[in-house]
Amino acid sequence: MPTDPNLLVGIGGCEDAGVYRLNDETALIQTVDFFTPIVDDPYRFGQIAAANAISDVYAMGGKPLLAMNLVAFPVKTMDKAVLREVLKGGLDTITEAGALLVGGHSIEDEELKYGLSVTGVVHPNRVVRNNGARAGDLLLLTKPIGTGILATAIKGNLAGTEVEELITTVMATLNREPAQLMATVSVHACTDITGFGLLGHLLEVAAASRVAIRLDAQRVPVLPEALRFAGMGIIPEGAHKNRAFYQPRVTCLLAPMDPLEMALYDPQTSGGLLIAAPAEALESIMARLAKRRYPLDYGIIGEVIAGEAGTIRVE
Ligand code: CO
Ligand code: CO
Repeated sequence: MPTDPNLLVGIGGCEDAGVYRLNDETALIQTVDFFTPIVDDPYRFGQIAAANAISDVYAMGGKPLLAMNLVAFPVKTMDKAVLREVLKGGLDTITEAGALLVGGHSIEDEELKYGLSVTGVVHPNRVVRNNGARAGDLLLLTKPIGTGILATAIKGNLAGTEVEELITTVMATLNREPAQLMATVSVHACTDITGFGLLGHLLEVAAASRVAIRLDAQRVPVLPEALRFAGMGIIPEGAHKNRAFYQPRVTCLLAPMDPLEMALYDPQTSGGLLIAAPAEALESIMARLAKRRYPLDYGIIGEVIAGEAGTIRVE
C-alpha cells in the first residue's frame, strides 16, 4: 500500500478513527458507524446512534464538524413517521455536538438501520491515539457499564421502563464534555468503550501501548441492577463471545461466577471514554466534570503497569 506521511492514523491499529494531516494546524478525523435499533423509541434510537458514531471523533481528541446520515429502511412494512423520528433524534444530537448535517444516503432494507459518517478536526499534535499509555498512568472511565445486560433484560420483559429510560439516557449522552476537558490537559491514550466491552477495549490499549493493566474491578462504575441481572444469567451473547476471545489475556482474581466479571465483558453501545494519563491530568478532568455536574457515573478504574504487554489483571 502506498504510504503518505500525512496519514497520521490509518487502518491496522484498532484505532477509533482515521486521521489525516491537512496542514500544520489541522488534521481531519473520519469515522462511520451504524446499527439496528436497541431501544423501541425511534427518536431515542436516532440520538443513541448519532452519539455512538460521533464518539469515535471524541476518542481521537477531536471535535466533530460534519455528519452524513446512513439509513436502511423497510419502506413496505414500516411507517415513514418512524424514520422521521429516527432522523430527528439524530439531527438533535448532531446539533448538540456542534456539528452540521450535510447529507446522507438511504436504501431499502428488511430491517431499520441508522448511523452516521462523521468528519472531525483536531490539531495534528493533539491527536490522542490508543498506543501511548505508559506505566504509572491511571485509567479514567467516563460512563457506567452494563447497557448490554440491561438491554437484554428489557428484551426479555424482565426490566421496566425506568431501566429503559436509564440506559437510553446513558447511551444518548455525548462524550463531548469529557472530550473537551481531555483536550485541555496532557493525556497519553484514549478510546471509547463499545462492542468489545470494557476488557476488550482495555486490552486494545494495553496491546497497542505495549503495557499491562491492573483493573480495580470494584471501582468500575456499573449501572444499577446490571449485576443482579448478570447474576441471573441475563447476559447478551456478545458478552460470552468477548469473554471467550479475550479471556486468555486476562488474569481474573474475582471469585468464580462473580457477575461483575461478565459485566466487564458486556458489549456497550455508545459507552464512555477510557483515558490513560498521569493522576494530575485525570484529577483535573474529574474536578471539572463534577463542577459542570456531568450527569453520569465516572471514576478511576485502574492503572497502567509494567508487565507482559497486552495483558490485564482484574482484582
Ligand atoms: Co471507538
Ligand atoms: Co466505531
